[in-house]
Amino acid sequence: MTSKTNADIVDTVPHAVTEWDRIPAKRYYDPDFYELENKNLWPRVWQMACRLEEIPEVGDYTVYRNLDQSIIVIRTGADTIKAYHNHCRHRGVELVNKNGKATGGFICPFHGWRWDREGNNTFVFQEDAYSEANMCKDDLALRDVRCDTWGGCAWINLDKDAPPLYESLGRFAKQMDLYKVDELQVEWWYAARLPTNWKLAMEAFMEGYHVATTHPQLLPPGATSRPGEAAWVKLPPEMIMGSWWTTMPPKMPEEIDSGMFIDNYIDKMNELHEGMGGMLAKEEIAVAERLRNTELPRNTQDALITWRRMLNQAMTDDYRGKGIEIGDLNAIDAAGEASSVNFCFPHYFLLPVHGAASSYRIRPLGPEECLFELWSLKRYPKDEKRPVPTAPTPKAHDDPQWPEIPKQDYSNLPRQQRGLHTGDFEFMRISKDMEGLISNYQRLIDGYLAGYPSDKLVDAVQEVSGPIDRAVEDLGF
Ligand code: FES
Ligand SMILES: [Fe+2]
Repeated sequence: MTSKTNADIVDTVPHAVTEWDRIPAKRYYDPDFYELENKNLWPRVWQMACRLEEIPEVGDYTVYRNLDQSIIVIRTGADTIKAYHNHCRHRGVELVNKNGKATGGFICPFHGWRWDREGNNTFVFQEDAYSEANMCKDDLALRDVRCDTWGGCAWINLDKDAPPLYESLGRFAKQMDLYKVDELQVEWWYAARLPTNWKLAMEAFMEGYHVATTHPQLLPPGATSRPGEAAWVKLPPEMIMGSWWTTMPPKMPEEIDSGMFIDNYIDKMNELHEGMGGMLAKEEIAVAERLRNTELPRNTQDALITWRRMLNQAMTDDYRGKGIEIGDLNAIDAAGEASSVNFCFPHYFLLPVHGAASSYRIRPLGPEECLFELWSLKRYPKDEKRPVPTAPTPKAHDDPQWPEIPKQDYSNLPRQQRGLHTGDFEFMRISKDMEGLISNYQRLIDGYLAGYPSDKLVDAVQEVSGPIDRAVEDLGF
């Protein structure tokens, strides 16, 4: 594929992506490349720091750590969240080391200096013993970190010059707003330590191409991945993007039996629910159950479209009938904005299949290790009191307790990381049509590593966040 990579990127970034459908293997293990990411990427991007349910009441705080940075995220008012660098202004002790409630503010455990929730210093033990210059109130205040909220989460950015959060989220936020994802709440939260570079872990979720082989149980009902068995069924793209079989138009016979199709479909819904431990809620399967005896057209394409519209309508109505807010799922389809698997640069995913969703966040722990967090998110009635979610203890990637689908993904990743090292494997060969997101976000990383200013990168930041299964695109820099 033609290379149009800027000369200054080629000159300054080691292992830069120069052939756009080839990703150099060393990007996934070279310690110098990792260091460059730590220096030039992470300090400049919006990072999902916590779910707002973690800090439901005024004074509640949590700690977001990434690499050597530690940040306190605190609710200072019903609708205000602030973030501070997590260090004491005296001799640098981390003020807090896990979530909690700042009832009277923060007290340093070393010599007892204090701050209120707004970050103002309120007490220095034996203040007279310090020079005036060291007791300047502004200097003693906790250091603010840029913080904003969107989609039920607080986000931080260490870069004062970065564009605002919503602008940076681009199409991703606009599409997800249609679903009303800010109404989602945590059902459960798990974490895995993967012996894998953080980018490699993310890329396992950037294409649906692997589904037929890695998760064959998720193929659409009646579909096959075997060559020569049936024709591809033509569906409007939003139906593909809005379904869990992203990328692949179902390969199915031209005509189907209504009863058998619906039975299969509901079986698949159960399979997805069990396999993800969520993503598709039990209550949503119950809605489909009520449509079990519907008569669908014999033509497969018409049947699939009819079924999806009915299901969308029934789910939207069911949620709203319970007083639960949700976007109009058929209107989202009609607008061409349905998207069930979505990436948010640099390290967050949101997967709303219908009303419920799964979500991922991936953080580096070293050149060849990462922390992969998963949330199951659901919609609950407004008056339902939910437990406050707290950070999970990470499990091993091969812990037998993982639900089936993450287990399948996690089983490939350590093998891939090892494979990258062997026999001079130079670069990954990616599909320019289906695996293009992998190239797009990697080349955006190169823009950061080359030190490009934010105004040069902002269009690409907006472009890269959004649906997976993309073609290789020109990022405009
Ligand atoms: S280090 Fe915090 S009060 Fe001394
Ligand atoms: Fe997968």
